[in-house]
Amino acid sequence: MAEASKPPRAMMSVVTSGKDQGAEEEKKRISTGISALDSLIEGGLPEGKSYLIAGEPGSGKTIFCMRFILRSLGDGEKVVYIPVDEKPTEIVGNAASLGWDLKKYVTGGQLLMLDVALSQGAANKEVDVAKVVTDLASYVTRAGASRLVIDPAEPLISSPDSSKTSRQQARLLMRSLQDTMPGMTSLLTLNASAHSGVGVDWEDYPVNGVILLGFRREQRRLVRTLLVNKMRGTAIDLVERQFSIVKDAGILIEATSPEAVAPRVPEAVAPRAPEAPSQPSETQKPQAEQIMFREWHG
Ligand SMILES: Nc1ncnc2c1ncn2[C@@H]1O[C@H](COP(=O)(O)OP(=O)(O)OP(=O)(O)O)[C@@H](O)[C@H]1O
Ligand SMILES: [Mg+2]
Repeated sequence: MAEASKPPRAMMSVVTSGKDQGAEEEKKRISTGISALDSLIEGGLPEGKSYLIAGEPGSGKTIFCMRFILRSLGDGEKVVYIPVDEKPTEIVGNAASLGWDLKKYVTGGQLLMLDVALSQGAANKEVDVAKVVTDLASYVTRAGASRLVIDPAEPLISSPDSSKTSRQQARLLMRSLQDTMPGMTSLLTLNASAHSGVGVDWEDYPVNGVILLGFRREQRRLVRTLLVNKMRGTAIDLVERQFSIVKDAGILIEATSPEAVAPRVPEAVAPRAPEAPSQPSETQKPQAEQIMFREWHG
């Protein structure tokens, strides 16, 4: 009897104090575009933060980004996408091979794709990260975008002399994104070969979450793997899942009971001692690499 007189659950959750509403806002999640992944991270990515999708070449980073972009567009959000290593035309073609039409969103003004040009001899120079972020922010503002995807991030933090400087560049990139575009949800990809052990690692990016894509050998074949390695404010199980890349769905995570796959700690990276934030003096500073962005309209 008492049970029948209780208000429905939905009604109860509407009546919250101001403090509770704040807590609700903090928990707002946005879909990755991969429903099985969303359910592993309490419904999706906490909104307004930066995430790293790291993995070996061919592990599916770009396809992951495309799924996220399409879901965001489907949800009515505007997106700025910078495919740094590939031409927008190629990206649109690859998306079409998976059954996805990115072009219509470009034409419709919901998706802004930026073509990237590096200056001559760029590989040996240091990128002016702050300028890159300022440039990107102006495109984001013009597009009215709430989502930003940079695929991959390395060329934007390039530095010729040492991985130490590149690590500082990585931190500067993340800080600048957060400071210049507060509230923006961004995905960045990173080529992380488990075997290289050199250069900038995903651990050098102070992001809110990290998803590692890779391969695992099973007898005579490789299987694709996905591991949520870090997600602030979220319980994660650190279980590596198998997935396939298939038309339409994109990334299809295979149903696995947590016991079936032994948790695998990602390739060990020795913890690094914190570094004093140092900036090279003006005289030491190598000439800045120019990175130019151009709107792509197809
Ligand atoms: N239409 C498709 N159908 C099935 N699988 C596909 C299709 N298109 C691409 N793939 C698979 O996806 C893989 C590449 O994925 P993706 O481009 O996302 O990798 P990546 O991690 O971004 O690689 P890179 O580091 O080189 O940028 C290909 O090697 C291929 O196996
Ligand atoms: Mg890629």
